[in-house]
Amino acid sequence: MSCTLDKENFYERAKKRAYTRILAEVKDARHILDVGCGSCGLAKFIAQRTRSKVTGIDITDVDFPTARQKRRQGVTALVNCRKGNAENLNSFRARSIDAAVSTYALHEFQHPILVLKEIHRVLRPGAYVVIVDFPCHSLAEELWDEQYFTLAQVKALLTRAGFKDSQVNLIASNQLLLAKAYKILS
Ligand SMILES: C[S@@+](CC[C@H](N)C(=O)[O-])C[C@H]1O[C@@H](n2cnc3c(N)ncnc32)[C@H](O)[C@@H]1O
Repeated sequence: MSCTLDKENFYERAKKRAYTRILAEVKDARHILDVGCGSCGLAKFIAQRTRSKVTGIDITDVDFPTARQKRRQGVTALVNCRKGNAENLNSFRARSIDAAVSTYALHEFQHPILVLKEIHRVLRPGAYVVIVDFPCHSLAEELWDEQYFTLAQVKALLTRAGFKDSQVNLIASNQLLLAKAYKILS
């Protein structure tokens, strides 16, 4: 089996786990923000199953689904992906989002603290962020030769961004990091 195939299999298996866990976390939210959404796969997955509105934002828009693809998948009115830097979410009203999600993007953000502070700003009080990424010392680190955050680093970032009650755990046989944290009523 080629190395490329290993990577694809690993990513696809991890993605399935991540999407299922995230869906369970956000199933009651009505407007969800997907930060670093890529091709909007997670946004479509959530919208198809919850009929919630999911807005994706990504610094590059090359992979966004076309209107035709969205129509075919029955999410035309629900999924809206837009190009933008998550370090500045000014196109969203403060306190307007019910839940924010982000998969495999935290390690790619140039300034993760700025992104997390922006997410915190646009969440309504009582709302939460759910982050999935590969953790430090995971198989992914070897496969992609990338560096990921430790659980403690993610928790510290969330705290610095203003989040409370954060829980950061390993899932999927320790190959994924799942973080959930709240914007507490103030
Ligand atoms: C590894 S991809 C993950 C994409 C998608 N979430 C997924 O699970 O397939 C990371 C994404 O983060 C995006 N990204 C990196 N920095 C960003 C930023 N500052 N604002 C918005 N998106 C960003 C990249 O363009 C890329 O699409």
